Amino acid sequence: MIALSLAEIASVVGGQTHDIPDASVQVTGQVVRDSREVEPGSLFVAFVGERVDGHDFAADVVAAGAVAVLASRPVGVPAIVVDDVLLALGALARHVVARLGATLVALTGSAGKTSTKDLIAQVLRTKAPTVFTPGSLNNEIGLPLTALSATEETRFLVLEMGARGIGHIRYLADLTPPKIGLVLNVGTAHIGEFGGREQIAQAKGELVECLPEDGTAVLNADDPLVRAMASRTKARVLLFGESDEADVRAENVRLTGNGQPSFSLHTPTGCSEVTMRLYGEHHVSNALAAAAVAHELGMSADEIATALSEAGSLSRWRMEVTERPDGVTVVNDAYNANPESMRAALRALAAMGKGRRTWAVLGQMAELGDEALAEHDAVGRLAVRLNVSKLVAVGGREASWLQLGAYNEGSWGEESVHVSDAQSAVDLLRSQLRPGDVVLVKASRSVGLERVAQALVEGTEGEVAVR
Ligand SMILES: Nc1ncnc2c1ncn2[C@@H]1O[C@H](COP(=O)(O)OP(=O)(O)O)[C@@H](O)[C@H]1O
Ligand SMILES: [Mg+2]
Repeated sequence: MIALSLAEIASVVGGQTHDIPDASVQVTGQVVRDSREVEPGSLFVAFVGERVDGHDFAADVVAAGAVAVLASRPVGVPAIVVDDVLLALGALARHVVARLGATLVALTGSAGKTSTKDLIAQVLRTKAPTVFTPGSLNNEIGLPLTALSATEETRFLVLEMGARGIGHIRYLADLTPPKIGLVLNVGTAHIGEFGGREQIAQAKGELVECLPEDGTAVLNADDPLVRAMASRTKARVLLFGESDEADVRAENVRLTGNGQPSFSLHTPTGCSEVTMRLYGEHHVSNALAAAAVAHELGMSADEIATALSEAGSLSRWRMEVTERPDGVTVVNDAYNANPESMRAALRALAAMGKGRRTWAVLGQMAELGDEALAEHDAVGRLAVRLNVSKLVAVGGREASWLQLGAYNEGSWGEESVHVSDAQSAVDLLRSQLRPGDVVLVKASRSVGLERVAQALVEGTEGEVAVR
């Protein structure tokens, strides 16, 4: 964080100082919530969680060098005490961001936020110092913590914003007001909680409503619900997508034999060829979104294309490809799943597996509400249509719907099977995988299917090439 004294922080968050001998002492390190991340100069934020109370670590973190604790009660060591730690953290982030010289870029959407945020960061950082959300820390805690990690040198601050309901994005955008706001897509993630696609669009669109007149709304021209958000903003609108009306477009999109997308990138200032290192056609849309942001920040088509072609996967378990020494390819996409990303991943599997035997090891897509049965059935059917050799549906009721969809679409015999848990899937795969097979592993986070992918590459570590 930029250096601030405890007195200034207390005033910004409206807190009382306790056990602080000298309030002119500055916080010079990071603001952290995990006691293991404390370093000399840190400010430790004490949250009361379900299992752990951060206040219990107060003495330890101060011994480890933390200057003070942001707390909801006195803790016997230097503390700034507030009624609501979360609101105080947000107020501090808002204050600090206003003092930074950085341009803020925020993005939201149903699928691909983290992948796109990582692409934007990898493009922008070729130009100037860039701070961005680590992993998927996109909520009311992760967002201010990320913003607070910026320094005077930071030129670009790229923030992923997540939402599980109306008002969430507005809250986040108010803490860290973006100059550029990007909406990727409106899918079905968390549809059960939202109540429907229109509500999701309503919630995600809050991002562009918060933009200033001299800001830019970067919108997906290929997604009607996102395209329609143009009417909800005062900011200039920049469209990306494969559609002709997009300002930043891809032409001649194809997948290489490895399943890596390749296309001609057109921006208002030029055209350049991109071949990505990431897997799956869904990354074309993510790359165009990143290109639109980078164009808006003054980068040329060539600069953007070079950075996009070099960008790797920064966050784990997203189409993470491991080649085993025996020639089996394991694609770990077990980070999360929704109907759109399931389809994209299956198409990537089909492209990667041309001429090889392909396995789709799939589990539940969570939070689909009333659409759960139809969506699982559709994914099972798509696996058959794409000619995936073997579908292994893992888990309970939803997995049985996946398998039934495949069965009804015409898979026969052993082509689709349903197993009850991850271990059974591992046992089945261990006994049946042959050199040359390609295995995709994917389900919602809560299913924990990364265990299957990890078991399949276990023991081969050190010898494998992780691309
Ligand atoms: N543009 C996209 N459309 C559909 N699915 C996508 C897209 N981008 C990524 N995905 C898939 O969605 C899942 C989550 O990706 P991630 O980038 O972590 O998104 P989010 O942060 O929105 O949850 C991954 O399995 C990934 O393969
Ligand atoms: Mg994410």
